[in-house]
Amino acid sequence: MMRRFAGVVVSTLALLGAGCWLVAATPAGAATPAAGSPITGKPPLQVVATAPKGSLHNPFNGNAAIAKEGHQLFFNYGCNGCHGGGGGGGMCPPLINGVWIYGGSDDTLFRLISLGSDKLQAAGYYRQTIENVVAPMPSMGPLIKSDADLWKIITWIRSAYTGPAGHKYK
Ligand code: HEC
Repeated sequence: MMRRFAGVVVSTLALLGAGCWLVAATPAGAATPAAGSPITGKPPLQVVATAPKGSLHNPFNGNAAIAKEGHQLFFNYGCNGCHGGGGGGGMCPPLINGVWIYGGSDDTLFRLISLGSDKLQAAGYYRQTIENVVAPMPSMGPLIKSDADLWKIITWIRSAYTGPAGHKYK
């Protein structure tokens, strides 16, 4: 049901444009969306280009049905090849251990995945720690269809978290 709900919102917004998130979501009535950034349906790189630093917030956090979709997208976009199917790492760092290389805010993760390590740092975000593997994250933005898809993936990453309590979004 959440899959259908999200699809309706995204396609409605594609017609109406950004800023109608609450208006579009309310009549659907399936659930009250968590406070977060509006879904624009635009590619993540376009969203990142105009959103002020620190302003991006996941509208789906905590939604189990969306997390499930996000896990599928994690495979569809090939994230698992580097980070492992469960996000526990492999060739590349784990995503679920509570160690956040550039910080663990929604805004930082959205930008890191979209831009990759180098452009993220050029945009003024700094390496705060290192993981077991140190390598640049490639820019996945050109592959990811929409902000909705990326937020769904981030929702899944949150849901798979196994690190210390209280450190999730830092
Ligand atoms: C070619 C390998 C590769 C692919 C594909 C890849 N990543 Fe990464 N990812 C990395 C590397 C390497 C890092 C560490 C970056 C650094 O240290 O600057 C990283 C870092 C991250 C982090 C931050 C982890 C932390 O501990 O702070 C997240 C979140 C992430 N990737 C998500 C994704 C998602 C989602 C996808 C798919 C859309 C993806 N990655 C695809 C290699 C990859």
